[in-house]
Amino acid sequence: FSHQGEMPLIVQPVLQPLRLSLDKLRDVSSRLHKGLVQGLGKHSHHRAAVKMLPTFVRATPDGTEKGDFLALDLGGTNFRVLHVRVLQAEQKVVKMDSQICVVPKDMMTGATQQLFDHIASCLGDFIASQELKGQTLPLGFTFSFPCEQKEIDKSILIRWTKGFNCPGVEGRDVVTLLRDAVRRRGDYDIGSVAMVNDTVGTMMSCGYKDQSCEIGMIIGTGTNACYMEEMKNVKRVEGEDGRMCINTEWGGFGDDGSLRDIQTEFDQMVDKTSINPGVHIFEKMISGMYLGEIVRLLLLRLSEEKLLFKGQKSEVLQTPEIFQTKFISEIEEEDTGLDNARRILTQLDLQWDEADVRVVRLVCDTVSSRSARLCAAALATIANKMRLNRGLDRLQTTVGVDGTVYRKHPNFSEELQLTVRLLAPECSITFLVSEDGSGKGAAMVTAVAQRLCVLFP
Ligand code: GLC
Repeated sequence: FSHQGEMPLIVQPVLQPLRLSLDKLRDVSSRLHKGLVQGLGKHSHHRAAVKMLPTFVRATPDGTEKGDFLALDLGGTNFRVLHVRVLQAEQKVVKMDSQICVVPKDMMTGATQQLFDHIASCLGDFIASQELKGQTLPLGFTFSFPCEQKEIDKSILIRWTKGFNCPGVEGRDVVTLLRDAVRRRGDYDIGSVAMVNDTVGTMMSCGYKDQSCEIGMIIGTGTNACYMEEMKNVKRVEGEDGRMCINTEWGGFGDDGSLRDIQTEFDQMVDKTSINPGVHIFEKMISGMYLGEIVRLLLLRLSEEKLLFKGQKSEVLQTPEIFQTKFISEIEEEDTGLDNARRILTQLDLQWDEADVRVVRLVCDTVSSRSARLCAAALATIANKMRLNRGLDRLQTTVGVDGTVYRKHPNFSEELQLTVRLLAPECSITFLVSEDGSGKGAAMVTAVAQRLCVLFP
């Protein structure tokens, strides 16, 4: 435990199942490796838990891309519309302007047409405010859900994840849904559309700066990664030459039961009470949408066992989502953490003493550490695979990273990097925090597609 010292014996039985040894992580990594191979296979991908989706992104930026683009970003913390300029001379991607549009919670699970009309209306307002009407700029659509892509501009939603669940979108092409909504309005037009997962945008936005950036990783509301795979291993797409970026959808790891031994009763409870039980098991142990809930359930259990809050029956802790994921980061802050914990426990109306404060911090640390270590195991699996693919003794590569958990938690990135070094000792991995991968990266994907003439302006 990074800053906790020894675990107080009394809470050990409850927290122990969340502490994963290096051997266990190696074991998890080798299971994921099997999952990656299964997902890539021509005949095995249908039943694969880890979907390994071809993205039709065949190259990272080479520095010659340029132009103006629109970008849409749906599936992270906010829905956004952006105007982005790629400046070749300065090798820079500049956000000209952007606008956040709120997607009301009921719209996230409501009718399809309503959601896409809302998207088209936000885009319409933005185009008007930017005086871009009449210009049909190419558009990069960062749509951060698992999609089966047939081409860069055809993308069929496999299933919703995170907080979304509009019935009727699964199985349909998202580009068609967007074009139909724009057509219904009839007051502006859109040009070519490139569909982008946020992991891909993240990899591509780092790629302008560092051309060895061949992995993109998100640890935010959800978690996922993409990487450049050899075409000869991508059995579902014709052609043997070169590489293609694969969106792993590693959040689905475990959906076939392969993580049952490390899932605790708290993980099972989080899954059972989610809007998509049985789906994205790995994500539910790692990402921001779920970490606070895992902590809440642990605190509830500890208080029921009279190991916290003097065993008072606390209704507060029975309220779903009362313990926000951001509290974990605040409580684990090196200097201010214990004070933050006192403040948060008071705000939650819990009767605490000093021993409780330390136990709460220990619980947060246990949950966030496990998340970082599981991510590390998954990232190490990908890096090792890339190294073996290329027949290298040593792989040097860069990972573009984004997401609130990675960015905001005080020691998540450190723990992740340390663990990856142990699990993939033959790989030297540089971590680059992406600057707005979902916005600028989407423009970059569109720009590269234009350079390769996969999309015509
Ligand atoms: C979920 C989505 C995936 C996305 C990730 C991070 O796992 O299924 O497509 O990349 O969240 O936002």
